[in-house]
Amino acid sequence: MEKLDIHIVGLGNLGSAFLKGLNIVDGINLFLYEDLDVVRQSINDEFSITPDDSIISIQNGVLILCIKPQNINNFFTNNKDKIDPDVLICSPVAGLEIKTIESFIDNKILRIMPNLLIGDNKGFIPYVSNYDGDYFTFKKNVLAKLGAIKEFDEAMFPIITALSGSGPAWYYELSSQLVNSGQELGLSLDDSEMIIKELVKALPTLVAEDSSFKDLVEQVKSPNGTTEAGLNSLNNDSFDRIILDAIQKATHRSTEISRELSNE
Ligand SMILES: NC(=O)c1ccc[n+]([C@@H]2O[C@H](COP(=O)([O-])OP(=O)(O)OC[C@H]3O[C@@H](n4cnc5c(N)ncnc54)[C@H](OP(=O)(O)O)[C@@H]3O)[C@@H](O)[C@H]2O)c1
Repeated sequence: MEKLDIHIVGLGNLGSAFLKGLNIVDGINLFLYEDLDVVRQSINDEFSITPDDSIISIQNGVLILCIKPQNINNFFTNNKDKIDPDVLICSPVAGLEIKTIESFIDNKILRIMPNLLIGDNKGFIPYVSNYDGDYFTFKKNVLAKLGAIKEFDEAMFPIITALSGSGPAWYYELSSQLVNSGQELGLSLDDSEMIIKELVKALPTLVAEDSSFKDLVEQVKSPNGTTEAGLNSLNNDSFDRIILDAIQKATHRSTEISRELSNE
């Protein structure tokens, strides 16, 4: 069977996570593009492949667009004539709607919102497309190897971006605050950091697919125990409201970026 060409444009955080996750995928040829010298060098050091600094021509396969929203306009202005109409455009760009990409180019478009866990093939990849079926069997043979995939209505993308795309950041920030608390209360920074890292590493084995998070909280607290004392304090300090506000702000920003991109 012929190999599928996969072109990754932008090898920053997400582009390099794709590259890492795609390492285990058979039947693909990788082509990389990155305009920063320092990033090209670090990709070469880590993966022994040197990205090109610009696109000459993409005639088939899939183009995965791992560049920032503010670079999109320039990208299509400079490159749309170098991309064959048969190429599938796969966009993880936060806030970039299919209709905005369609205003630049006529190709088939797959919008996704992965997070960095695709680098360990444990991502969650929501998707929506402007075509039926599985063009190039890309969803089944490539995306699904990087994590769980699920189709959503595009109207849900701002909230999905806030929950899942930015998701690792919520857990990193919570963990960072737990480390600070340990240090504040007498542990060394190293010990506190180690305790929380070990905890986070162990969590996947504790999260049963069929239990809700609410159930899991109930399971770890005992009446009048230490966990309950801390949970009561969180509730009294409106932890639910703090989290809801943060997710609302992130969702709102995603919607705002969509508006900015479609007005450009
Ligand atoms: N990071 C995440 O967890 C995450 C999750 C979901 C979705 N996303 C989306 O993924 C995209 C990339 O995010 P990121 O965090 O990976 O950004 P990033 O670390 O800034 O990486 C983007 C890289 O692409 C390069 N670049 C820009 N335009 C280029 C072009 N025309 N040709 C070649 N290289 C180009 C950038 O170089 P310059 O600095 O020179 O522009 C930069 O090195 C964003 O649109 C973001 O919304 C990210």
